[in-house]
Amino acid sequence: MNIIRTSSYEEMSMQAAKIIIKQVKNNPALTLGLATGSTPIGLYKELINDHHNNGTSYKDVHTINLDEYIGLPKDNPSSYHFFMKHQLFNYIDLPIEQTNVPNGTAEDLERECERYEEKIRQLGGIDLQILGIGQNGHIGFNEPGTSFESRTHIVQLTENTIEVNSRFFNTIDEVPTKSITMGIQTILECKEIILLASGASKAKAIARMINGPVSEEFPASCLKKHPNVTIIADSDALQLV
Ligand code: PGA
Repeated sequence: MNIIRTSSYEEMSMQAAKIIIKQVKNNPALTLGLATGSTPIGLYKELINDHHNNGTSYKDVHTINLDEYIGLPKDNPSSYHFFMKHQLFNYIDLPIEQTNVPNGTAEDLERECERYEEKIRQLGGIDLQILGIGQNGHIGFNEPGTSFESRTHIVQLTENTIEVNSRFFNTIDEVPTKSITMGIQTILECKEIILLASGASKAKAIARMINGPVSEEFPASCLKKHPNVTIIADSDALQLV
């Protein structure tokens, strides 16, 4: 694991943006894996600014998001479809039909999981995947105990995740209890992974990922099995390492 320690959230975002922009320039048809949550918002702002100021183009890029809540329609402001449109897709030249987020309102959710895996295969796999990390070590919505062999699947969210994510909803009762997420095996097959973390609330999780054992009880520990992972984190998130 490469570790890039930054002095601030802004620098973390800039460093991640630099890597993505370089890769898009080298391979304009990159398949880019994206994440939601508070952490990547600064990165997406950097990509938007760079697109406007330097003209980096995403017209041949395809994107694959990690996860989506089950039961939220795409136009629900708390859905990850909505988040991605409003934090990134609406502001760069990426054709919307080249973006992929699991459909959390599909009639047949098992079929939707298979379709998502098939889509990733059709795109030739994910070249570069952006990840955040949950306080409980989840990556995507792969909660503690998820098999390292899992592919895109339906999960029951833990109480901790529901509580942490309730800040994006009016009340905790509105937070969906299930989601669709790319699996651990799906994530491990990405050619390159960048994990972002910022703030003291992530310090324990980051330390356990870096120094703890590889165990399904702590999903992010699977990344130690991957040959090309870069952690970009600010000094608050790295304070226990
Ligand atoms: P956050 O979420 O970026 O909002 O902290 C990360 C995650 O739960 O994976």
